[in-house]
This record gives sequence, structure tokens and C-alpha cells, in this order.
Amino acid sequence: MAHTYDFDSVIDRKGTASIKWDEADRIFGGKDLMPLWVADMDFQVPIEITEALKKRISHGIYGYTASSNSYLSSVQKWMSDRHHWPVEKEGICHSPGIVTALNLIVDGFTEEGDKVLIQPPVYPPFSKAVLNQNRQLVTNPLIYSNGRYTMDFSDLENKLSDPKVTLMILCSPHNPVGRVWTKQELATVAELALKYDVLVISDEIHSDLVFQGHQHVPFATLSEAAAAHSIVCTAPSKTFNLAGLQISNIIIPDPALRKRYKKQVSRFSLSEPNSLGAVAAEAAYSYGSEWLEQCLEYIRQNADFVSNYLQKHIPDLNMVPLEGTYLGWIDCRHLGWDKIKLQRFFLHDAKIALNQGYTFGVEGEGFVRINLACPRWLLKDALNRLQTALEQE
Ligand SMILES: Cc1ncc(COP(=O)(O)O)c(C=O)c1O
Repeated sequence: MAHTYDFDSVIDRKGTASIKWDEADRIFGGKDLMPLWVADMDFQVPIEITEALKKRISHGIYGYTASSNSYLSSVQKWMSDRHHWPVEKEGICHSPGIVTALNLIVDGFTEEGDKVLIQPPVYPPFSKAVLNQNRQLVTNPLIYSNGRYTMDFSDLENKLSDPKVTLMILCSPHNPVGRVWTKQELATVAELALKYDVLVISDEIHSDLVFQGHQHVPFATLSEAAAAHSIVCTAPSKTFNLAGLQISNIIIPDPALRKRYKKQVSRFSLSEPNSLGAVAAEAAYSYGSEWLEQCLEYIRQNADFVSNYLQKHIPDLNMVPLEGTYLGWIDCRHLGWDKIKLQRFFLHDAKIALNQGYTFGVEGEGFVRINLACPRWLLKDALNRLQTALEQE
């Protein structure tokens, strides 16, 4: 019988240099904030990961490390079993993190003055990667209608048809709106990107965090042409809570694109994995699937819990239905407050550190993003704080 994992216990993370817990008050400028912001989990990883790390640590030598054959095999098996994606070993390239890879790709695959398209509201480092490199940002805002986000394909075509747009950064599944794009939606993106010869970076860091009834489709599996025009960013870091170990896999099926990417990685001396990160990732991909199933079910119940609580006690707020990721996107616009008042309220009255919607682009104003990957008790506490603060308004 499968082991039952415990996601309910609250494990004290204070004093571990956790950005989420130890830095929240300083970063947000509040006091005793309940941290439900940055995207890592408050859950312990599967025991097999910790055991593999202990074994590696007991060796006592941590010299320069390669992506081993067994590591690459574990990535291949994961992609094949979970995503029906046969990946070649040569196609798996290293980056310490996906944000690093985004910056390397924008820098190495576009020229200064080129335009790069993103779909806000979206993970803020997307726009930063573009602006950091002095490229121009082009936005194709998502449409929010009847409680659901979709892509605006006619606007997308219009923007991609500009010859200056040479790169698009796709978030699939989408942070923060929680959509798992359908095969049809992705096929339309691929068709338009190919038509106008635009390279697609598909950031699929959340691809393992998808709820029943939805299916993640890796962009490169859409067609041979899509594979030849895309760079797919994957990682075990969100899936298994390994962000501090700094390991991700940038999968590039096309040899010419791969050569170019590797040149960038080597230019900044980022070609080799952290020895502990590689061990943890291999153990995660090899033994973590049962843990992940249970974790996803717990997160799904957390999402239901928050959604139901809001409906019952705080009807001015409502959470957009979550198809994937552990990040809830809450619509606060019924409160009728501007972004400054909303931010002040959450920080100083409710004392909860959340990501404010406007940081994901102007399209996110009036929303907040909540991290659901924590023991339910913490969410209950946060919702109580929220309700009490609202009653005192
Ligand atoms: C869409 C997306 N991409 C990338 C990252 C971060 O990736 P990394 O820590 O590998 O740089 C996150 C983290 O929340 C994310 O949501």
C-alpha cells in the first residue's frame, strides 16, 4: 500500500534563511506577516530525496559535477511517463534556474531593439528579462471573461506579424491565472509563431502541477515544426520544492538552437549542475510520483477550501478556478479599492504577505496571488485575519 504523506503538519521554516518566511517583513515592510507569497511550498520533500542527499553528503567531496547519464535518464523517463514526451538526452541542457535561462535566451537569441512578446498578467521576471536586455516589450494581454482567462488570438496575430517581434515567452501552465492551456490553444500559438517565424520560449515549470480533468501539453510535442522553433523550460523545483537547490532542465530538440543556447550558458559559466541539486532532482524524478499525486490532491483541496471560504464569508473576493499551479488568483475588484489601498490593507490590516496583482502587469490590478502550497491551518489563519480586518474596515 502506498505511504500516506503528511501535508498538514506546520514545520517551522524560520531561521533557515527562507526568503518566504525570514525575509517577508523586510521585503514587504510589514510586521509579523503571514507569508503566502513567493512560490515555494511549506511541505517537506519526499523522503527519498532527503535520503539521496544524505548519502551524497556522507561522501564528503563536492567537486565540479556533470549531468550524469543516470540523471539524464531520470529526466527522460519523467518526461515520457508524465508528459508522453520522448526527449533525447542531448536535448536536455542545464540552467541553474529558469529565470537565468530566460535572460540568457533573450540576450543570445535577439538583438538590441528587437521586440519580445509576453501575455500579462504574467510572472514578473518575464518582462524583466526583456527589459534587462534592452529589448522592447510587446504585450498580448489575456482576456478575463465569465471567470475564465483565455488568449486573445487576433491581437496575438497582429502583434506577432510585426517583423521586429522575434521571440515570445509563453507561460504554460500560466502563473498567475492558473490556466492549463489546451492542445487547441497551444496549437494556435504554434501556428501563429511559425507563420511569423517567432521563436517560442515555453516556460513549463508548473507543468507537473496540473489537476484532474486537465492535461499539460509540452509545446515541443505539438508538431515537428513547433519542436524546431521552441525552447522548453522545465524543472523539478516547483514540483518537488527544490528551488533552493538551483537545478532546471532547458529542453531544446533543435540542434542549431541548442548549440546557440549552450554557447550562452558556457559564456556565463553556467554549464554544470550543483552536485546536490542533481542528486535531489534525480531522486525526485525517480521516486517522487506518489508524493506528487498526494501533494496535488492536498493543494486541490486547499484551493476548494479557500474558494468556499471566500464565497461564504467574504463574497467580495473570489478565486479564479485553478486548473494547475499552486497559486490562487483572487479577484478583489468588488471592494472597489485602488492598488495602493488594496496593498496597504493586506499588509497592515490583515497582515498577510501576498503578491499584489499589479506586479504581474497593469492587467493584474485589483487581484492578489496566494500561495496554496502550505498546511491548511495556515490558510485558515490567513482567511480569519482577512475576514476580521475587513469587518473592521
Ligand atoms: C512561470 C515561472 N517561471 C520561473 C519561475 C522561477 O524559476 P527559477 O527559480 O528556476 O528561476 C517561477 C517561479 O515561481 C515561475 O512561476
